[in-house]
Amino acid sequence: AHPARVVQDRKTICEILVNGLARQEYRGYDSAGIGIDGDKPGEMFFFKEVGKVAGLRKKIAESNIDTSKTFLSQVSIAHTRWATHGPPSIANCHPLKSDPKAEFTVVHNGIVTNAAALRLLLQKRGYKFESDTDTEAVAILTKYIYDSQPDKRPSFTELVKTVLKELEGSFAFVFKSSHYPNEAVTARRGSPLLIGVKTEKKLKVDFVDVEFATEGESKSMDTRECFRGNPNFVNMINMIKMSFLVAPTSPGGLLAPPSQNANLMRTQSRAFMSEDGMPLPIEFFVASDASAIIEHTKRVLYLEDDDIAHIAEGELHIHRLRRTDGPQVASTRTIETLEIELAEIMKGKFDHFMQKEIYEQPESVVNTMRGRVNFDQNVITLGGLRAYLPIIRRGRRIIFCACGTSYHSAIATRAIFEELTEIPVTVELASDFLDRKTPIFRDDVCVFVSQSGETADSILAMRYCLERGALCVGVVNTVGSTISRETHCGVHINAGPEIGVASTKAYTSQYIALLMMALQLSEDRLSMLERRKQIIEGLHALPSQIKTVLDGDRSLQELAGGVLANQRSLLIMGRGYQYATCLEGALKIKEISYMHSEGILAGELKHGPLALIDENMPVIIIMTQDSLYPKVQSAYAQITARKAQPIVVCNENDLDIPKGCKTIRVPKTVDCLQGLLNIIPLQLLSYHLAVKNGFDVDFPRNLAKSVTTE
Ligand code: F6R
Repeated sequence: AHPARVVQDRKTICEILVNGLARQEYRGYDSAGIGIDGDKPGEMFFFKEVGKVAGLRKKIAESNIDTSKTFLSQVSIAHTRWATHGPPSIANCHPLKSDPKAEFTVVHNGIVTNAAALRLLLQKRGYKFESDTDTEAVAILTKYIYDSQPDKRPSFTELVKTVLKELEGSFAFVFKSSHYPNEAVTARRGSPLLIGVKTEKKLKVDFVDVEFATEGESKSMDTRECFRGNPNFVNMINMIKMSFLVAPTSPGGLLAPPSQNANLMRTQSRAFMSEDGMPLPIEFFVASDASAIIEHTKRVLYLEDDDIAHIAEGELHIHRLRRTDGPQVASTRTIETLEIELAEIMKGKFDHFMQKEIYEQPESVVNTMRGRVNFDQNVITLGGLRAYLPIIRRGRRIIFCACGTSYHSAIATRAIFEELTEIPVTVELASDFLDRKTPIFRDDVCVFVSQSGETADSILAMRYCLERGALCVGVVNTVGSTISRETHCGVHINAGPEIGVASTKAYTSQYIALLMMALQLSEDRLSMLERRKQIIEGLHALPSQIKTVLDGDRSLQELAGGVLANQRSLLIMGRGYQYATCLEGALKIKEISYMHSEGILAGELKHGPLALIDENMPVIIIMTQDSLYPKVQSAYAQITARKAQPIVVCNENDLDIPKGCKTIRVPKTVDCLQGLLNIIPLQLLSYHLAVKNGFDVDFPRNLAKSVTTE
């Protein structure tokens, strides 16, 4: 056997795939499918099911497939779908194949925007389609290009490269083919993709070089030969060198001496040798995110946009899809060790991930602050920002740019950011920011807030700002994500993996991360000394105060089953710091309990929303005690005068709350931190409303966790 091969039986392979899908299910749960090697060379078996992965698992268990068959080398692919082109159905479920014999099989995330044109072209040439998907057009296009080169078959990588050049839109693909057994090609542009590497022994080096050959050369040679003692090795290196992209700071660039290039090329094969120089039995796992594979390996490398990776016979080769004329592309992909633990992506004693994540907040906020807040000396240290502080302080303005919950965390912290730093802050929805083609300048500081770090709108907005020379800062939860890699600097919020589609703990951690940024930026401002001290003390007390709020869960459950049960709509109002709480609370309620809910700035009531108020309209009003308390009291008076019976979110010992009204009591903290406590009852309320109605809390209809398409 080839020393780099791992022997596995079909049962294990199916289990790896289905378990991996179950862990990635939160990304899409319309349908799920797998494609595995059949009994004869080139043959493939498919299993597909509409709905959740559990259905697919059952289907495989009930099939009469021989699960004992072993494989020396095997490539299998699997996918969970969130429908974009065509409804959820078996026909539209991935993997999608080019023809009944599955000469080419593809799984795909993202959207190919020119799929309709490709479909038309291929149909005219006689190819038949069985699904409504954009992905099938890619599988068939691959076969078409393959069929059109009968005399000179390209390598699998070259073939896929040619296909991808024809595609517009965003993608992460894995290709498999009966013509290239035991090989897989995977590529990304705009959608996340990582490769896990599993070996028994320690690897010799912890990176893989990118092979920067251009089309011409790479067509005429197979770079893999370089590693197999080909006598023309030196010539090939020279050829590659000529076609290298100029990257003066990278040792593999055009300016590097030939010998250095040669070394670099050799590290490719060295990477997958053990420290004693022996080839290692090795398994590769390709996935959209780490949760799918961490039970097998924590060693991963992240592909970048326009990377194309070829996996075969225990070797991994990374190429570029096209010349990079724009920003410099790193010449290696580092194999990193993930810090996620399996328990973090399991529900444990909770019924749902969302519930678990709400309950994790006393710890997740500590993790966000860990090693960064010195409570004794009132000092904040965000290592990832330190070198950039002078640039940020000199910036003409700060622009927060995000979507959904992440956008709300930016709204929540905008006022304190401006107060502490005295830099004007604007908050932008990433999609609108792009639609408007907002003017951006070199002295702008653009902060991209994103749990996943993979939200398409936020990524596009970030690239727009990068192109215009602004300083780009990422505030991201997912280590290794596109936003965390492509921004100049940033802060990881360290909330731990968030699986529930409705974002909860990421919100509180983003809030704290942004606040810490403002505190660090204002460390040199004497006038802010007292304010900073007050906030940092407030942060210290926060985890135990969150616990106190969570202790009130029972009464929120009753509220969901009582006055709020079976309502069609719910208005949540407040002002100042609490406006963001209203928006975020309303988002939570609509996304998982499907009840219409709207966050209303209390100051805007008389400009329109007051017309909605009568004795039948359910209202929650946030009336915690800050400088705007009197103004919210008057909003309360305005709505009760119109017979509303609002539920009041207020501080524990507030005696001014009118007798007889329903209250949700929360501990008092510093004004700018109060939103961190006030949001928690609303998270719990939305959770209970959904559970009470029998809705699938972790998998709300029509939504997916990472929105990697525009
Ligand atoms: C709401 C929710 C979404 C996300 C939004 C941005 O609960 O999860 O609104 O907040 O899609 O996602 P990220 O933060 O990953 O960029």
